[in-house]
Amino acid sequence: MKKQFLWIVAAFFFLNVSAQKFDQLAKTPPMGWNSWNKFGCNVSEKLIMGIADEMVSNGMKDAGYEYVVIDDCWQVGRDENGEIVADKERFPHGIKYLADYVHSKGLKFGIYSCAGIFTCQGRPGGRGHEFQDARTYASWGVDYLKYDWCYAITGDKQVSHSSAEHAMTSYSTMRDALYEAGRPVVFSICDWGFQKAWEWGKDVGHLWRTYHDIKDQWNSLLEIIDKQKGLERYAGPGHWNDPDMMEVGNGGMTIEEYKAHFSLWCMLAAPLMAGNDIQNMDTEIKGILTNKEMIALDQDVLGKQGVCYRDNGDYEIWIKELSNNERAVCLFNRSDEKKSVQVNFDLLLKVTRPRGKEEQYNLGNYIVRDLWEHKELSMKESTAFVDMPPHSVKVYRYIRK
Ligand code: GAL
Repeated sequence: MKKQFLWIVAAFFFLNVSAQKFDQLAKTPPMGWNSWNKFGCNVSEKLIMGIADEMVSNGMKDAGYEYVVIDDCWQVGRDENGEIVADKERFPHGIKYLADYVHSKGLKFGIYSCAGIFTCQGRPGGRGHEFQDARTYASWGVDYLKYDWCYAITGDKQVSHSSAEHAMTSYSTMRDALYEAGRPVVFSICDWGFQKAWEWGKDVGHLWRTYHDIKDQWNSLLEIIDKQKGLERYAGPGHWNDPDMMEVGNGGMTIEEYKAHFSLWCMLAAPLMAGNDIQNMDTEIKGILTNKEMIALDQDVLGKQGVCYRDNGDYEIWIKELSNNERAVCLFNRSDEKKSVQVNFDLLLKVTRPRGKEEQYNLGNYIVRDLWEHKELSMKESTAFVDMPPHSVKVYRYIRK
């Protein structure tokens, strides 16, 4: 009897140990670059090495960008042992060589696969090969895995009718495989929000997509932002809502719109994965992606996703709680018209403040800084009129004196 009991305890312990994700990763939202939005299937060793070099030399690494991720299309088949095979023409030295190169730059290396039989571009997916692939990835030195959801039911590219249980089981299998392979890997769930990964993803991955693929268009941005409202309670250190990789710098939006895009991602504590050609970007775009004051909001250790506090249709106010009783406020003019808005800085500091901290949230205790102008406001008056062009933001940080 006693022996039987010990077996049960041992089995329970084993199951618990293996059924977990790597815990100490992504304590703040992951930052990096991903090939898909700009390059699609046009990925190669040369591109990835160039991106890694650029990330170091252009100040992105310094600003916090860390992961260089190859998305779909690096893989072409499986060999007779079922091992995944990389495209030899595009990656002549193999993936480990590339990972080593990225590591030699002080960066981390990421890769893409899919929970289905095929990836979304019809390359071999991970299904049925999870443990084998995870071991391969570990031997290559992979630090980040984006795992897609195409063909999760055979023959069906976009599995909208599948269940959350199905998704949870598929993604948990890969999580367990990664854990067993022993190399810490940030696990990025990419089921486009279809199976509401925010409800079950916390113990499975470190981030999960909340909606369909982003497009380099203003309307796509608005659609995605609207889908984030209400998801804030699911995010926190080690587990983030992912509104998708960024389009900043890809050419389909204006500078004001890209600033709004970047600001909202920072307010949302979203993973900051640049998705543009960073080897050929102008200084304005680089300035957006490396605005350290904005990035500090995203990376704040409290790990709170911002909330849409005021929704007036075409004008919104977002608030993000920060550590040290600080906060960020983002005014968001979504409309096609310019607006002059009256802002009550005292009120915006006090609304939605945490209970029991009423005393501290006093405007006199704070400096208010404009994070795009990089200037302190004079605060002679606690109310001001602010002019906002169409499709623009103003972002302020309340900094404790
Ligand atoms: C989509 C995914 C994109 C990209 C693409 C590659 O499902 O959402 O971000 O990875 O597949 O085929």
